[in-house]
Amino acid sequence: MLTSDLRPLTSVVMVQAKKALAKKARKSAGRAANRSRSKTYQNYIGGRWVQSASGEWSENRNPADTRDVVGRFPRSTEADVDQAIAAAAEAFDRWRHTPAPRRAEILFRVGEILIRNKQEYTADMTREMGKVLKEAGGDVQEAIDCTYYAAGEGRRLHGFTTPAEMPNKFAMCVRQPVGLCGLITPWNFPMAIPSWKLMPALVCGNTVVIKPAEETPLSTYNLVKACEEAGVPPGVVNLVMGRGSVVGTRMTSHPSLRLISMTGSTETGRVIASACAERNAICSLEMGGKNAIIIMDDADIDNAIEGAVWGAFGTSGQRCTASSRLIVHKRVYLQFVKKLAERAKALRVGNGADPQTDVGPVVNEDAVHKIMDYIDIGQNEDGATLACGGHHLTKGDYARGYFIEPTVFTDVTPDMRVAQEEIFGPVTSVIPTNSLDEAIEIANGVRYGLSAAIYTQDVNRAFHAMNETYTGIFYINASTIGAEVHLPFGGTKATGNGHREAGTQVLDIFSEWKSVYFDYSGKLQRAQIDDVEV
Ligand code: UN1
Repeated sequence: MLTSDLRPLTSVVMVQAKKALAKKARKSAGRAANRSRSKTYQNYIGGRWVQSASGEWSENRNPADTRDVVGRFPRSTEADVDQAIAAAAEAFDRWRHTPAPRRAEILFRVGEILIRNKQEYTADMTREMGKVLKEAGGDVQEAIDCTYYAAGEGRRLHGFTTPAEMPNKFAMCVRQPVGLCGLITPWNFPMAIPSWKLMPALVCGNTVVIKPAEETPLSTYNLVKACEEAGVPPGVVNLVMGRGSVVGTRMTSHPSLRLISMTGSTETGRVIASACAERNAICSLEMGGKNAIIIMDDADIDNAIEGAVWGAFGTSGQRCTASSRLIVHKRVYLQFVKKLAERAKALRVGNGADPQTDVGPVVNEDAVHKIMDYIDIGQNEDGATLACGGHHLTKGDYARGYFIEPTVFTDVTPDMRVAQEEIFGPVTSVIPTNSLDEAIEIANGVRYGLSAAIYTQDVNRAFHAMNETYTGIFYINASTIGAEVHLPFGGTKATGNGHREAGTQVLDIFSEWKSVYFDYSGKLQRAQIDDVEV
């Protein structure tokens, strides 16, 4: 590193400018903190902001500085859920009879409101779950993109026509809304993921009850507030905040919710799937990942390092798409590992509200324990080499938040727990390999199947790997993260249950097909009878 007196003047000026910016960001975070320091939020049911029947709330704190109270959020009861479902039921007929292009007009207005308030929502998100401002802005942007994309569907929602078996008979398929939908969303993409579910559900004509993660109700509150302001009619969107064990459980078992869509852990997903199976409800799940990047010997190593660092440590590794395994060809292994450790060590860990920060805190104390347990397992149970990181940072400003150093394990074998289990933190494992086919086998050798990637200059290898990896998403010369809203998102095996969000494919979750036969022959034409006259 250059000492300041050796630095060229321009870089000194830039550093000063950056410091000023950082100060400004801290000030504005401070202002935001004051603004809602004592704010108590409410549920949104039937078009009204209402207190929970429990009269209780949870205090949410900023994971970068736990002195900062983000707000107080209702600890809702089963009765709150029931009321929200009743409101959704009452609103359903009117909403489903509202022509889809009209529903879409309202969604376009939601998009405009999200754009207008993007900066404020971004700061709120960083404050409530820790991701750095640039990523929080990306999360809000993803919600904007998703909202516009879903709104565009208001003038499509395509069905299809197809030939009928008999003369003078017409056959077609139309989409109809599913009905009342329960949406259960995670804290790591607190505005994007709610929007992935909410916007397509609405454009298809459903009414919803949404339960955000306990850690991140504010971003969902912001999204629902935007819906209210845009003119989404009362009862069409209902927000119930609180615990999964109360609110989520009531939603999944309630006979009136025809569909549950959840993003979260595989363990929670299985419980939800069983509850839905009991009452024959539709259930769409997006769950864990243990995503691999394969780095071949012909890869552009510097580019691969950037992809690995971004994929492993972006959002502090708290993405289901995180690059938590790096499978590296032995010919470039030493070079790769050395560069990776250098880059990981240089990442600045800190408050996400500071524009200088590369890696923010993890979401809460439980996350710290879980991740530190895995770091311990990696070193002491698995016997992997700790190439860098591994510490829970507790000194100075770090003492007030949940900070963990970007951590790289090397000499990892595919069967080790750190290479098999989802850690959901800033920890990645480097696994050496001898060949592409072995790398593919390792990539496939986990219970999950969300995303995978390869770095190579060889088009044949790239396509071979694409074809042979059993995942829902694949990248060539890019990281495992960063899926776009107009392509289907989801995974195989323990990651999903066969559905895809985003893209037009999400419409298959939030609408049901109705096949329509129109016989205009004026006589009885019997189908499934062998002697059909042609
Ligand atoms: C998630 O981590 O649950 O592809 C979603 C990505 C983001 C979405 C991640 N667009 O990394």
